[in-house]
Parts: sequence; C-alpha cells; structure tokens
Amino acid sequence: MAERTLSIIKPDATRRNLTGKINAKFEEQGLRIVAQKRIKLSNEKAGEFYAEHKARPFYNDLVSFMTSGPVVVQVLEGENAIARNREIMGATNPANAAEGTIRKEFAESIEANSVHGSDGTEAAAREVSFFFTDAEIVG
Ligand code: CMP
Repeated sequence: MAERTLSIIKPDATRRNLTGKINAKFEEQGLRIVAQKRIKLSNEKAGEFYAEHKARPFYNDLVSFMTSGPVVVQVLEGENAIARNREIMGATNPANAAEGTIRKEFAESIEANSVHGSDGTEAAAREVSFFFTDAEIVG
C-alpha cells in the first residue's frame, strides 16, 4: 500500500550542502518527494517535535542541534514508505549503519546523523501534519 512518511534533512547535512545527494537516494530507491520545505526550527517547535524524548539525557543537546541551522522537512511517498525510508537512512548510530545507507555515508555522529524519519504509522501521521497542511502535499 502506498504510504507517506515524514523526513527531515538535519543541520549537519544542509551545512555540508548534501540535500541533493540525500534526495537522490530517496528517489533512486523508489520514494517520491511529494512535499518539501527548507526552514529554521525554533526552540519551541523543535522541543515539541521531539517531546517524546524530553526525559532522555540527550534531549537538550538534540534541540540545540536541530535549531543550529536550516533543516529540510519533506513528505516521502511510496510502497511501504515508512519502512523503506528507515532502510535507506540506516541505523540511528552511524557506527551501526549498513553500507550504502545515508547515515553510513554522511552522518557525523549519533546526534548529527543527517536525517530523521518517522518510526511508525502513528508517528508518520503526527509528524506529517506537524509540518504540512493537506494542500501542501502534492502526490
Ligand atoms: P532521530 O531519528 O531524529 O530521533 C531522535 C534523535 O535523537 C536521533 O535521531 C538522534 O539524532 C538523537 N540522539 C542523540 N543521542 C542519541 C542517543 N544516545 N540515542 C538515540 N538518539 C540520539
């Protein structure tokens, strides 16, 4: 079934001008970018987006990092888009990421790991509507 998932190209990747290389990996592996915008997250917005991690020791650093430069938020569409995107990204920690994945090739650390992707159906619905209205998504 065609699915949609929320992707974020993080500040470590926009800083190094990697948006196009990352988008090529999505497109080459069957995902369609059906919405996309480059934005600067506020502390409030980044904190709310990652609210589920509030109690984790890395939360404050994560919010600072995500507001340290531009991010590209995007909606990816395709067959099993949520799981497919997670495969394309690779493991959260680049040290554990498989060859050919975005995080293996580009991530700098577990925090500056170049991309975020929704981790399930509920998260995808919440995260897509966190950044985009229906009218901004053109499938
Ligand atoms: P992301 O998929 O955006 O979801 C939460 C983010 O927290 C994760 O990617 C990492 O960038 C960041 N993070 C920083 N430290 C850790 C950690 N020790 N474990 C998991 N995620 C971490």
